[in-house]
Amino acid sequence: MTATKRHKRFKAQVFCFVCLFVAVFLATATSHSQRPASVEQRVNALLARMTLAEKLGQLQQLDGEGNGTFRPEHPDLVRKGLLGSTLNVRGAQRTNQLQRVAMNESRLKIPVLFGFDVIHGYRTIFPIPLGEAASWDPSLAERSAAVAAQEARNSGVHWTFAPMVDIARDPRWGRITEGAGEDPFLGAAFARARVRGFQGNDYSTQDKVLACAKHWVAYGAAEGGRDYNTTEVSENTLREIYFPPFKAAVDAGVGTLMSAFNSLNGVPASANTFTLTKVLRDEWKFDGFVVSDYTSVRELINHGVAGNEEDAAAMALNAGVEMEMVSRSYNAFGQKLLQDKKLSIATIDEAVRRILRIKFRLGLFDRPYTDEAGERSSLMRPESIRLAREIAGRSMVLLKNDRDTLPLSKNVGSIAVIGPLADDRGAQLSCWAGDGKEEDMVSPLAGIRAKVSAQTKVGYAKGGDAKGDSSAGFQEAINLAKQSDVAIVVVGETADMVGEAASRSTIDLPGRQLELVQAVQAVGKPTVVVLVNGRPLSIGWIAGNVPAILESWMGGSQGGNAIADVLFGDVNPGGKLPVTFPRSVGQIPMHYNYLNTGRPPEAENKYTSKYLEMPWTPLYPFGFGLSYTKFKVSNLQLSAPSITANGKLTVSVEVENVGRRAGDEVVQLYIRDPVATMSRPVKELKGFQRVTLQPGEKRRIQFVLDREHLGFWNRAMRYVVEPGEFRVMVGSNSVDVLEAKFQVTTN
Ligand code: NOJ
Repeated sequence: MTATKRHKRFKAQVFCFVCLFVAVFLATATSHSQRPASVEQRVNALLARMTLAEKLGQLQQLDGEGNGTFRPEHPDLVRKGLLGSTLNVRGAQRTNQLQRVAMNESRLKIPVLFGFDVIHGYRTIFPIPLGEAASWDPSLAERSAAVAAQEARNSGVHWTFAPMVDIARDPRWGRITEGAGEDPFLGAAFARARVRGFQGNDYSTQDKVLACAKHWVAYGAAEGGRDYNTTEVSENTLREIYFPPFKAAVDAGVGTLMSAFNSLNGVPASANTFTLTKVLRDEWKFDGFVVSDYTSVRELINHGVAGNEEDAAAMALNAGVEMEMVSRSYNAFGQKLLQDKKLSIATIDEAVRRILRIKFRLGLFDRPYTDEAGERSSLMRPESIRLAREIAGRSMVLLKNDRDTLPLSKNVGSIAVIGPLADDRGAQLSCWAGDGKEEDMVSPLAGIRAKVSAQTKVGYAKGGDAKGDSSAGFQEAINLAKQSDVAIVVVGETADMVGEAASRSTIDLPGRQLELVQAVQAVGKPTVVVLVNGRPLSIGWIAGNVPAILESWMGGSQGGNAIADVLFGDVNPGGKLPVTFPRSVGQIPMHYNYLNTGRPPEAENKYTSKYLEMPWTPLYPFGFGLSYTKFKVSNLQLSAPSITANGKLTVSVEVENVGRRAGDEVVQLYIRDPVATMSRPVKELKGFQRVTLQPGEKRRIQFVLDREHLGFWNRAMRYVVEPGEFRVMVGSNSVDVLEAKFQVTTN
């Protein structure tokens, strides 16, 4: 090749290279300019255009009318940019109507965020959350939350004030109904599942809603079980018992939290910088927002930490409560607080930024409206109703079944269905029932009638009111039981006895229901008690005298059918208690993961930790539940005799169905760190699996333990795994367990 040729070829190569470079540069530049702005860019661009009044407006949430419509003042507030969110306003048409004002008539066209309490279903109602947790199957909670999300979003609701993830160790507290019970590990599993069910991977889609983990935090520790009451909880206990379900929700991507009503160690939860800023924002890196509970900002005055509403606004906003529910202190005093330098514009901007971020993530700026034509067909779909029945069945706990009283035959000659809850559809609906309707619920009586054969006679006697003090209906119930082959007595609590502001000073059966059970039992027919209730009840007499007891909770739309499925053996009960059942109210607080004390109870030694009049043990322990078949848990094995503090240990057991029916067992794993620098609980749940086994089927179940399970928060408030001996216990409840030991060595 000549020099000229080489030179020409070199020039051609350079030319090609330059062309390629220019092409790539242009393509990248164009794609950059066409790429949609990120959420953060859009948030900041909007924030830069907002007036102070408009910023404060985004921090305001107001309540609608009782029937789900917005209030007359709302459109004007929205038009002026002074209202960012509502609660209880729902229905595609109504929400669209208010949204049109935001999108067409307000200066900045920031969409309204519609929130609502969708706790255990929107229109299709699932069992109360405590009941659902009794399934020990978080995948069910994920599926019910997904149905609730789909129904709610198609009805114009963007945001549910759920899951309620408060740990509750006191059954007097009515809100124990709304959570997953007493245990942080089980509670975290359900929190995670519910967040996933509500939000999915992307809550901008038409079938998902934004979730809200509440009530941050320790609301369930209310002294005396009295709602809204004070709580005193050490930081260790906060971190080990009350925080974990919230942490699980945050890790699962929950978009919002709700600050609680209670004071926590003297500082109200809605003005608590430690929990709202240090833990939530700084440690957990939560980038969503916190909404106050209903008027909890203004209530800082009653708590005695704020002298007036102006102080209350400054305290809550500075502590990290970004949106104010119902009270209007931020809006009324925001400007003055800024002038007086009690609040900085950076704090206000950060709050607005967090709220706008979530509105963008919800896709509201791009799709602010709900398709009105799609609403009706999204509600109570046949598959949703089927799921409600399945979950209700899987939530039930068989507490007693002497002489195989259950299941009953569908061909039994005659059945007496007795009790004030037997035909109470409202109790199935329970509290916080979204848009659920009593007329859509199936009562236990209706479920039983639909289940039995045409020849079976089903008689019904109410026997009295659940809370009444009359025994006038007893005789009719007794007569019916006498004429029948079997008596099913349905007793418990009415819907208004559970949930918010429904604390009780006793956990006995209300009214004269126990006497009714006693009168029916005295007739001498095989008797079954079905409990319909939202909290543990002290039912010692029934446990000692009635051969069969089914805990059915408050089962939702299909509660009555699910009760019948279980009573007549189409479903074999496999639920386990997510909460301890005390013998008496006097034993409360009672939970399985207590500390040993210096004087653990001993029957013969007076000077040990117990009561004079009754055993120290519960009536039914945490994790307890029977089945129509029998299971054997055996052959506990550990993968190694010792691990390092950062190591992993595999624990396995065999579980075998040794009975004659297919059934479910929930295998539970507990640990104990017997000697540590802080006193550790006698047992802590660290693993569980619900398995279905055919008669004769045997399966090995595996659990893996690691640092996350073995550590605790020490005196210096550091999470540590301390070397030494550990015990591991595996079984079918928190008492009947196999036990093994292993060592943890330093790394
Ligand atoms: C008060 C309750 O404590 C809370 O759980 C609920 O979400 C709000 N009211 C809104 O209804």
